[in-house]
Amino acid sequence: MFDVTKIRNDFPILSRKVNGYPLVYFDNAATSQTPQIVIDAIVHYYSYYNANIHRGVHTLSQEATDAYEKARIKIQRHFNAKKSHEIIFTSGTTHSINLVATGVTSFLQKGDEVIVSALEHHSNIVPWQMLCERTGAILKVIPINEEGELLIDVYDNLLSKKTKLVFVNHVSNALGTINPIKEIIDKAHAVGAAVLIDGAQACPHIKPDVQELDVDFYVASAHKMCGPTGVGVLYGKSAWLNKLPPYQGGGEMIKEVTFEKTTYADLPHKFEAGTPNIAGGIAFGVALDYMNAIGFDAIATYEKELLDYGTQKLLAIEGLRIYGTSPHKTAVISFNIEGLHPYDIGTIIDKLGIAVRTGHHCAQPIMDFYKIPGTVRASFSFYNTKEEITKLAEAVQRAKNMLL
Ligand code: ALA
Repeated sequence: MFDVTKIRNDFPILSRKVNGYPLVYFDNAATSQTPQIVIDAIVHYYSYYNANIHRGVHTLSQEATDAYEKARIKIQRHFNAKKSHEIIFTSGTTHSINLVATGVTSFLQKGDEVIVSALEHHSNIVPWQMLCERTGAILKVIPINEEGELLIDVYDNLLSKKTKLVFVNHVSNALGTINPIKEIIDKAHAVGAAVLIDGAQACPHIKPDVQELDVDFYVASAHKMCGPTGVGVLYGKSAWLNKLPPYQGGGEMIKEVTFEKTTYADLPHKFEAGTPNIAGGIAFGVALDYMNAIGFDAIATYEKELLDYGTQKLLAIEGLRIYGTSPHKTAVISFNIEGLHPYDIGTIIDKLGIAVRTGHHCAQPIMDFYKIPGTVRASFSFYNTKEEITKLAEAVQRAKNMLL
């Protein structure tokens, strides 16, 4: 039984006031809120066993190493990776993507082609543009339709023997569209291309199975799924991770160092130079436990109710247009009101305690497609309620009345 009142009690921040009003937090696609159990895991680590990992024989170091490696196994199970060494801790999705984009440099030649989609966040565009600058590879783009869906027939035509890599997000951060990633992956594999899926916006809502997807790389951030900031994951098939060179040199990632030659550690440590975000990694594992205990099916069902309710309430406001109208979408509503700038709406509703993101959402090509400077984006989570959505609709109506 999904009990949102009980769930809300797990999140201390949800009982605070902003500008004299109870906080209504609808900026979940930027970062999710943190349940007490995850906060406690961080406090407990620093209070009782803060130590560097994989280095010390002393008790604290062993306890910290144990907890960190247990978190890796929780992440492995969550994503259904075959091996725990296929799970690389990173600082977040952007780090994970850059690690791969840099690592594949020597596999590309001038004239090779790589494909991204028009729905990407800048972090899944810019690293690949930089890769193309380094290698002379050509960047091709899967376009979208008015609903904010990828044109798969165009993708079919873009694919060829020249295609080496495909990078697509699982869910669009700006619109919420859920992309048909299994089809995208299978079609890329049919021409011999590898695929990286940016799961940053999918993982708060969907539990991906990397083996079933047969994806080469899948990346995500803890802070979008009830975990802390500064920690994320790169899943990569062993075969790929073994082939890629290390991303950063330093401690932890070596087997032996001499001035003549250094040999690298085995996976996953080859990609984990330096002292990591230990508390963050441990807390990521706790966040996954927390979300799995609620259940991703229950989360999806509840969030769909919120999405339908929010869509209906907001569309009742005259002059309001929603961008991203695919039937396959997460609980994200990106909208504008004719004649109003998104910042103005966002600023006014903040005065009423409502947090939304405004602007281009680090996805300028999407805004260019719709010929708009940005949108107001309300992104819901399983701890939001219909009452909060009613408040949002009333606040947006009030902003409209004030500004027009
Ligand atoms: N990528 C995050 C967002 O969409 C920050 O808001």
